[in-house]
Amino acid sequence: MPDTVIDVHELVKKFGDFTAVDRVTFAVERGEVVGYLGPNGSGKTTTMRMLLGLLRPTAGRATVLGLDIEKQAEAIRPQVGYMSQKFALYEDLTVRENLVFYAGVYGMRPAEYRPRVKRVLELIGLTGREDERAGEISGGWRQRLALGIALVHNPKLLFLDEPTSGVDPSARREFWDLIYTLAEEGATVFVSTHYMDEAEHCGRLGIMYNGQLMAMDTPSALKASQLKGPAWNIVADPLIPALDALSAIPGVHRAGLLGDHLHAITRGDAHTAASLQAAMIAKGVAQAAVEDAEPTLEDVLVELAGRGN
Ligand SMILES: Nc1ncnc2c1ncn2[C@@H]1O[C@H](COP(=O)(O)OP(=O)(O)OP(=O)(O)O)[C@@H](O)[C@H]1O
Ligand SMILES: [Mg+2]
Repeated sequence: MPDTVIDVHELVKKFGDFTAVDRVTFAVERGEVVGYLGPNGSGKTTTMRMLLGLLRPTAGRATVLGLDIEKQAEAIRPQVGYMSQKFALYEDLTVRENLVFYAGVYGMRPAEYRPRVKRVLELIGLTGREDERAGEISGGWRQRLALGIALVHNPKLLFLDEPTSGVDPSARREFWDLIYTLAEEGATVFVSTHYMDEAEHCGRLGIMYNGQLMAMDTPSALKASQLKGPAWNIVADPLIPALDALSAIPGVHRAGLLGDHLHAITRGDAHTAASLQAAMIAKGVAQAAVEDAEPTLEDVLVELAGRGN
């Protein structure tokens, strides 16, 4: 396996006049867990489908496992695992039968797939449930089975397209533990999501907006490089007038609600906690307690979306 397992240069996909993926360039190294974060319609699935050789690029080029996505697509598919956003299980088949069926699709013989299916069942935590019908297990278990199907031929590179959408928070956390177990065992994972908390767990993160890859880096580097200045949390009362006051202070780049308090980004070194607090009080806010805060990925996303418009 080459060190650079995904290598993408200026990849474009147009549907008629509409550009779904707009000159996207990035690389993924062996062993990484790379997230692909972006709102609905930002081009995540379209990118993945091109990399899997399922959709022809309009322009640009890419290799996956060193293979050209246009000329060698047939050779790529057997070597990668793909959990599609709209994955399909055979509802009438049991958990084990689903895995065995897909092992067959990959041309695995019984001597090969028997131990592998056993191992996959252990990995996805469905040992003991292998005889239950896929149509009768819960959403979280179905998601794991779909991942198991993507893993059955033992691929070293996984494309997971919003694998946790629609499952509850605890099932999502367990699913991410599983992703990290796979990475520890040597898999490279490229995973799309629109959940900010999940994106925070990725080694590196690409941010898609309107078909463009706005940035790709570690979550902490994105926060350090993409924001105009420091972040603040402000406990204030009453909240909404305080937000209006905060937004109007020179040097405040963005301000919004975050749970039960306010969250703001200021420009450069325009403010200290004390100066921000004084400015709010001067604008008539009765109570405002300002503390420095960790920037969030949402801050980064809002900033990049502002630039992309
Ligand atoms: N076959 C197609 N024909 C025309 N337009 C398409 C086609 N496939 C995708 N699109 C459009 O391209 C854009 C990107 O779609 P894509 O599915 O890649 O987004 P996404 O980031 O995966 O979104 P989601 O989070 O909703 O899955 C969307 O506006 C979509 O409507
Ligand atoms: Mg999608």
